[in-house]
Amino acid sequence: MKKIEIVNKTKESFLTKRTIQKIVNLVLKQENKDFPGCLSIAVVGKEEIRSLKKRFFHQDVYTDVISFFYGLSDEDDIWGEIIICPAVIKEEAHNRGEREERALSIVLIHGLLHLLGYEDEDGEKAKVMEERQEILYRLGEEEEEREKLIKKAKEVRNHAYAPYSNFPVGAALLGYDGNIFTGCNVENTSFGLTICAERGAVVKALSQGVKEFKKIAIIADSSSYCFPCGACRQVLYEFAPQLEVIAAKSDRDYEVVSLHSLLPQAFSLKNDRKE
Ligand code: THU
Repeated sequence: MKKIEIVNKTKESFLTKRTIQKIVNLVLKQENKDFPGCLSIAVVGKEEIRSLKKRFFHQDVYTDVISFFYGLSDEDDIWGEIIICPAVIKEEAHNRGEREERALSIVLIHGLLHLLGYEDEDGEKAKVMEERQEILYRLGEEEEEREKLIKKAKEVRNHAYAPYSNFPVGAALLGYDGNIFTGCNVENTSFGLTICAERGAVVKALSQGVKEFKKIAIIADSSSYCFPCGACRQVLYEFAPQLEVIAAKSDRDYEVVSLHSLLPQAFSLKNDRKE
């Protein structure tokens, strides 16, 4: 897509430009679609969206979003327009006890899906659309979570003590409690005493009472992705066999693999120990 134009005609806050951009990119990528031309997003007040709904759909109601698809003929064209009303979305979110940011994101995804051909007039189609928007929102959240972890790993890499290898590493481990535990490699003149970034993070988490983990991000300062060494794989496996491992070069360039794939047929006493 060429460009996204966003005009906020209200005093009401909406999503940031960055978040909008990320949501649009994610939805287009996941739906395997791209378009020439522009996407226009107009953020409007309650009365304006009501009058548009009346004019184009003959319904006199306040609504959260309206999508207009204009076609794909000319590269410079606006291929679609989304009219969105944060005031209505926030009111509804408030009534459901839902976070505003989540509600705003989901309604934007909903508007985008309409532009991509999804419909919601009948119950069955509406269900498909609703499920799809939930999945896309969740994928967006996962992406955010990964990028946040990579940033933390990169920050802590500055504290690495690696005078012997000159290979600083940072790791950020996400606990099931939502907390992030960081670690960096700490070397020793007696080389074998070196502690890797990942194990540093695990020890920190355990000493703070957290021993279940969702994801770990690892970043070195090298041209290749840094996956955990064998010893770290085993230590991570002890607490989180289902762990997601993110090997990053930057917050935009990373690979995601499962710990299972890095340590197949892992050794564990837990399965065999006699009680
Ligand atoms: N290192 C880590 O901290 N994590 C890894 O996953 C691979 C290796 C450290 C250990 C040592 O300080 C340096 O990188 C070179 O091996």
